[in-house]
Amino acid sequence: VKQVNNFIGASLGGLPTPCLIADLPAMERNLVAMQSFLKVKGKSLRTHAKTHKSSRIAALQIEHGAIGICAAKLSEAEKLAASGLTNLLITGPVVTDEAHHRLIHCLENSPDLLVTLDSIHNARRLSHKLTDCGRSIQCLIDLDPGFNRTGVPMAQAVDFAREIDRLPGLRARGIQAYAGDLQHIVHVRERREKSQRVLKLAAEVFHKCRVAGLVMDIFSAGGTGTLAADVEIPEVTEIQAGSYLFMDEEYANIGWDDFLNRPGTFESSLSVLSTVVSANHSGFVTVDAGLKALYRDGGIPRVIDPASLIAGYEWFGDEYGKIIPADPSATILVGEKVQLSVPHVDPTINLYNEIFVVKENIVVDVYPVDLRGCSQ
Ligand SMILES: Cc1ncc(COP(=O)(O)O)c(C=O)c1O
Repeated sequence: VKQVNNFIGASLGGLPTPCLIADLPAMERNLVAMQSFLKVKGKSLRTHAKTHKSSRIAALQIEHGAIGICAAKLSEAEKLAASGLTNLLITGPVVTDEAHHRLIHCLENSPDLLVTLDSIHNARRLSHKLTDCGRSIQCLIDLDPGFNRTGVPMAQAVDFAREIDRLPGLRARGIQAYAGDLQHIVHVRERREKSQRVLKLAAEVFHKCRVAGLVMDIFSAGGTGTLAADVEIPEVTEIQAGSYLFMDEEYANIGWDDFLNRPGTFESSLSVLSTVVSANHSGFVTVDAGLKALYRDGGIPRVIDPASLIAGYEWFGDEYGKIIPADPSATILVGEKVQLSVPHVDPTINLYNEIFVVKENIVVDVYPVDLRGCSQ
């Protein structure tokens, strides 16, 4: 088996498929566009690594100006910390005894690690363990934006923050308000209004906590979809967007305003490269990218290349996809490559061990997806 790094210098035609392809110039344009937009708005980026699950990419985002990295789960944070990244925030709940012990261990590599809390019962247990070993951790109060998945109801949040801050070993640094259910609202205006309504409530909580004497300086909010609306809330200090780097069909299919001061929005920079593996029927061919290559959520992949091949994709089982050309007499040969768009970027990346980074159709780098499988 050829080591993946040996593919540096290869053309797309020489890659084993199905595989993930990131277009480096488009990725870099997205990195620069995000940072320059946030700079103008006076906000920081604490980008979410759940999108790419790669400590290499996280480091690249820090190089481009991100102040820190979000992890969805403790095991993602452990990997990021072990690779030397600092200023990490775990955006999801960490609740079991075993996870508390690992969290405390993780503080050794990453003393500025931030954790989110939404349960006083969990906070008390964590506080006991921290005091037992003479350590402390900084926390954000996770606010429920109305999605009801995690988070403290807004009305209880100030009392909750006070209680947290009184517990030994825990220090409330701020709030998190991530409205996952609003990110893909199709109409820009509706998305903007709903997100700002939620974040204004969160801002009231933030103010009241400060009036109550809590030293809070972090208000972490937003994803790619609500970014343009969320930066208009003065109290927000940082944005947690992740998808902006690669984008996907889900984000391509919603409305955008031209907040980046350039045509369109962030560019689609990630695709799946597949190979035609069977062509024995008229009207369609079979490619090697199916359910194990493209996560089945967020729509149907589009054929990006060959651009001249106007064709649709259909799921064709675990290992296969069906490519149906608009012109049924089109000739597509076994061995030809077909490049497909990604419907939902995060769970699709989680299917791969690496991302081939490409410039002008030549592989220039390979990013390991080293956080792959870190869902604990
Ligand atoms: C807590 C949290 N913050 C930020 C994000 C990033 O959102 P996006 O990928 O839409 O930018 C997510 C994505 O699911 C998330 O769960």
